[in-house]
Amino acid sequence: MVDKLAVVVLAAGKGTRMLSDKPKVLHMLCGKPLLYHVLEAAKTLKPSAIYCVVGYKAEDVEDVFKQEDINWVTQGEQRGTGHALLATESFLSDWDGLLLVLCGDAPLITPKTLNKLMETHQKSKDTAMTILSTQLDDPSGYGRIDRDSNNNVIGIVEESEAGAEQKRVKEINSGTYVFDPAAVFSALKKIKPHKKSGEYYLPDVINILTEKKRKVECYMVSDDIQVEECLGINSRTELLNASKIMQQRIIHRFIEGGINIVDPINTYIESGVEIERDTIIYPFTVIRTGVVIGKHCEVGPFSHLRPGTVLDDHAEIGNFTETKKTHIGRHSKAKHLSYLGDADIGDEVNIGAGTITANYDGKNKYRTVIEDQAATGSGTILIAPVRMGKGSQTGAGAVIARGKNVPDGATVVGIPAQMLKKKK
Ligand code: UD1
Ligand code: MG
Repeated sequence: MVDKLAVVVLAAGKGTRMLSDKPKVLHMLCGKPLLYHVLEAAKTLKPSAIYCVVGYKAEDVEDVFKQEDINWVTQGEQRGTGHALLATESFLSDWDGLLLVLCGDAPLITPKTLNKLMETHQKSKDTAMTILSTQLDDPSGYGRIDRDSNNNVIGIVEESEAGAEQKRVKEINSGTYVFDPAAVFSALKKIKPHKKSGEYYLPDVINILTEKKRKVECYMVSDDIQVEECLGINSRTELLNASKIMQQRIIHRFIEGGINIVDPINTYIESGVEIERDTIIYPFTVIRTGVVIGKHCEVGPFSHLRPGTVLDDHAEIGNFTETKKTHIGRHSKAKHLSYLGDADIGDEVNIGAGTITANYDGKNKYRTVIEDQAATGSGTILIAPVRMGKGSQTGAGAVIARGKNVPDGATVVGIPAQMLKKKK
């Protein structure tokens, strides 16, 4: 871990190639915006400060991350990556630690690789810049690392400006760098805009640094996982590719953590989900961000667990059951065709096939409470706000009117549901 570290994330670009009204860094990858993943990696390094350069729809971006401890820096006009980093100069030119620069559109990066990049940078005091690079079979779209006959890095050539020979170079710039802050800010002031695009390219500092006899190094990664970390997202196709990679990482982590995912290819689990050991996930299940699942649970096939779902140990959710902002207690079951939204369900509850919590009246959402050992008959509709007491039951097709709470141990039937009179 580096003692003194400041991180800058470049996230001001529009993302023209996404063909979208949304800023690129807010596009979702496994349930979280691209920028979220980059910030998570940055936070793990415990830096002294994180600066995020925003520009295109800056307020929208800041709003999504308003709970986070981030220093927002505005790049009024987006005039290139060099221009973007220069926007942080007044905050960082006197910084006497390391400066790590990340791209908001490269969400697969991990703290482990960033630590190695920083270690490489610190090997020599002469090094002013270390670039995370890798070799890709298809390097198209990326800046290519240009080396001299002694293999020293002398520049980065963008795809749009590369000649045929340069295009054949497979070593690419990931857009992740470590800098000596004083050196990079002084160099940034000297770079010139490119004729075709009119933009200031961050990699152009290389020339200025090497002229000053400062070293520019690459930390070139080659193992499969690290190669993937270098991928940037500029188009929907690249987003899809990154999503597949991240999905595999998530599923793999659960399998390694003692979870039984019966059919990994046909299971979709977003980032930010917790599942405890010995739980089984059957195929065609979708588990959205923020869901928490305890031990020995069974989920699926064909379940949809949406944000705010908590399953206590031994809970079971079956086919065509959707849950949202719902807590399901120990040993409780909802095995077939249900919607459980905004509900607090106790322990050992049986939710009959087709039970629906009618949680929305067109204006507001209301909660349903179903206490321990209660059971709903098939096709029950609970019009929230409503409560079923401990050990209570509903008959098949019962509609429990809003506010008509079912007392402990009672059975209600019909539409609207009435207490079942016991036969003498
Ligand atoms: C950049 C690199 C390229 C590298 C690739 C890796 C440059 C000139 N090129 O190209 O060598 O291979 O990343 O993915 O740096 N941004 C701003 N302000 C701007 C322009 C961009 O903040 O004015 C941000 C974007 O929001 C994005 C990041 O910088 O997060 C990279 O910009 P992008 O336009 O995606 O650059 P690439 O063409 O991918
Ligand atoms: Mg990019």
